[in-house]
Amino acid sequence: MNVSTVNQMRAMDRAAIEQYGIAEELLMENAGQAACTVLQSMAPIAGRRVLIFCGLGNNGGDGLVLARKLHSLSAKVQVYLLGDPNRFTGAARLNLDIVRRLPLNMSQLNACDTLADELTDCDTVVDALFGTGLSREISGLQEQVIELINNSGKPVLSLDIPSGVDGDTGQILGTAVQATATVTFGLPKIGNLLYPGFALCGTLHVSHISFPLALTEDKQLQVAINHPPPLPPRDVTGHKGSFGQALFIAGAASYLGAPRFAALSFLKAGGGYSRLATPETIVPYLSMQAGEVVFVPQLTTHSGSIALSNRAALLELAASQDFAVIGPGLSLDPQSQQLVCELVATLDIPLLIDADGISALCAKPEILQQRTAPTVLTPHLGEMARLTGYSITEIEQDKIGILRQAAAKLQAVIVLKGPHTLIGTPDGQIFINLSGNSGMGSAGTGDTLTGTIAAAFCLGLPFVDAVCKGVLLHGLAGDLAAEALGEDGMTAGDILDYLPTALQMERN
Ligand code: APR
Repeated sequence: MNVSTVNQMRAMDRAAIEQYGIAEELLMENAGQAACTVLQSMAPIAGRRVLIFCGLGNNGGDGLVLARKLHSLSAKVQVYLLGDPNRFTGAARLNLDIVRRLPLNMSQLNACDTLADELTDCDTVVDALFGTGLSREISGLQEQVIELINNSGKPVLSLDIPSGVDGDTGQILGTAVQATATVTFGLPKIGNLLYPGFALCGTLHVSHISFPLALTEDKQLQVAINHPPPLPPRDVTGHKGSFGQALFIAGAASYLGAPRFAALSFLKAGGGYSRLATPETIVPYLSMQAGEVVFVPQLTTHSGSIALSNRAALLELAASQDFAVIGPGLSLDPQSQQLVCELVATLDIPLLIDADGISALCAKPEILQQRTAPTVLTPHLGEMARLTGYSITEIEQDKIGILRQAAAKLQAVIVLKGPHTLIGTPDGQIFINLSGNSGMGSAGTGDTLTGTIAAAFCLGLPFVDAVCKGVLLHGLAGDLAAEALGEDGMTAGDILDYLPTALQMERN
């Protein structure tokens, strides 16, 4: 499903009205109906005491349509308008005039003195204060109302997006409603899907409110929920060579877990043959814990990292591989860092670069730009900051924009890891991944992503689809582990254990 920015949604509104003659009033009517349907699914409506808070924009207009519909279903409705009702315009104004003729309570809210009690007495709250038109931090009366709503403990339905959430970033503008459920209209907005906005939405419902498919499925929207195509069927006559050969260049004396998790995740995600080039000093330990992996012992530096002198042999070996992963637990030893640069510049097989591999390339974008075979980088927020020169705060405030810019500049697919990992492609496409959970925030889980992506590619998906599939499967394995064990205490090893089940679920 596509995801829209605030401006794109405005353009879609205009196109629906101007090109298709779907009047603004019809769109608002459909939005109010969609909200009513969601409320009906939450609890019986008749006799229910519903407090509806309406701002003066079109989001408030949606709230007024809902008020009318709830009234006709015998709910006890109280509407509070936040501001001077004379400022309503267009379809919202029309709906205000209709509601004024109905025997339901509607008044302008000027102070919050009695609001806490009224919230205690009501059954449900509707938040139609601000939608995507919120343009600055919330303050004053609106801020107080939001605080009281959040403290009421009542079920809250937000219309389009919880008031206070920035529709383009998911960031909070001053304060924000914590909804139990949100019904978003047309398409989900980026702010509905990125944290903290996603968490503030509660259960998210999407209603297309009769937008023509040509608008909602428009490729120009360029942001979509991650939903890659299925893996090709597994070859029943296949052998280990048929399911891909991947080389992992990873590990150092003090990082024994990263290479192990990376190389094993390839096999656990369906890959055929996993080779691990890692310092010879740690091979004896690793081979006890990863018997399924083939080891390629590497000469080491004084600090126990992979030495630059391995370059020629590694290049020769890698040329025979379907995919290479460079970086997990590699360390910041200058020789290993130099090795990364030389390998990435020379190898013309598909590459995934992670962790210390990314650090090696931060100051050398030309190495990535000049590659002819596809590349994927898998930075977390800190690595993304080093890679792009933006601060973590700047990235958080414009994740999608900065990701799109970096993927185009570096001519690489970039997986920006985090809650709801983002995938950006060099041609500007962004995918928002919804699988995964906070239990995955523990050491080693990123390493298990590398082999999962490599396996999805080796199992036959085109490069970008494979990256998307790997990210999806990895999150799914995390979700299965959380279901079985809980999020607290989940480890990278648990993700490895659940990768086969995740793969099986994806195939069925
Ligand atoms: N404090 C007070 N008023 C604000 C603030 C703020 N921090 N930010 C914006 N406003 C005002 C704007 O000046 C405008 O009048 O709030 C109004 C924006 O209201 P919205 O309903 O969010 O925006 P609008 O563009 O009218 O409608 C978009 O309509 O299609 C529906 O629900 C859908 O979210 C969508 C909404």
